[in-house]
Amino acid sequence: MSSRFTRVWITGGSSGIGLALARAYSEAGSEVFISARDPERLRQAAKATGSTPLPLDVTDREAVRDAVAQIWETHGPIDLAILNAGASFPRKPNDTYENLTRHLEVNLLGVAAAVDALWPRMREAGGGSIAVVASLAGYLGLPGTVGYGTSKAALIYYVEALWHELQKAGIDLHLINPGFVETPLVAGNRLPKPFMMSPAEAARRIVEGLEAGRFEIAFPRRLAWPLRLLRAFPSRIRLWLFSRALALWVK
Ligand SMILES: NC(=O)c1ccc[n+]([C@@H]2O[C@H](COP(=O)([O-])OP(=O)(O)OC[C@H]3O[C@@H](n4cnc5c(N)ncnc54)[C@H](OP(=O)(O)O)[C@@H]3O)[C@@H](O)[C@H]2O)c1
Repeated sequence: MSSRFTRVWITGGSSGIGLALARAYSEAGSEVFISARDPERLRQAAKATGSTPLPLDVTDREAVRDAVAQIWETHGPIDLAILNAGASFPRKPNDTYENLTRHLEVNLLGVAAAVDALWPRMREAGGGSIAVVASLAGYLGLPGTVGYGTSKAALIYYVEALWHELQKAGIDLHLINPGFVETPLVAGNRLPKPFMMSPAEAARRIVEGLEAGRFEIAFPRRLAWPLRLLRAFPSRIRLWLFSRALALWVK
């Protein structure tokens, strides 16, 4: 399969879903650039996927702006940016503030820094696509994931609220909401992970959705639909159901 995107930039491209996406887009003939913090791991990933490494921390706004400028000015316009870098940090008891701050800095503000860097350039180039990787965990308040889930819920809101403005600038904004994917990010999580899939399968679904121009790419459907249904329940029932489930899972 060949891709409609000529030049693709993927943040968090050294591991998990981002690495699988880099491989998929390289194989589809796109010129791929990947970013993450650890330069050696990024170099290995670039070598394995035939992409170009650009190390950065998404919480460093200037570094994000420089990376976008470097690709744009040395190689040409980015037509697809996949803002996938994300993290999940363990939380100590009685610590929601610090934990939430860390999650918001990477998962929400890291995305906003990249969107702000891409937006004027894409508008001037006459358009482009930006895909933001949030999570099904952001659909509703799930127990055990206060910091991570809140950052992903905020990210979903951010994308939906910004869609209109970017559309006017000729930029397509896409929302990617994966369920459980077998990557280092979920390796330490002891809660059940129903319908977990491989990074390659997640990347296949994301590429298929982006090539078709879908706004939201949420998978697997058998997890996304029950969560959407639960979202429509009165909150008292939802809270009761989750506390029952938690009592069964965490003994
Ligand atoms: N796995 C799942 O079940 C799942 C489900 C729903 C959504 N997601 C989302 O999918 C995305 C990818 O996650 P994954 O599961 O593939 O995790 P992963 O294998 O841990 O990969 C995370 C990637 O992000 C990079 N990264 C982390 N913090 C960064 C920072 N501050 N600046 C730049 N890069 C950073 C990591 O490299 P460095 O550490 O070297 O920076 C790595 O390349 C995340 O946004 C995650 O929230 C995952």
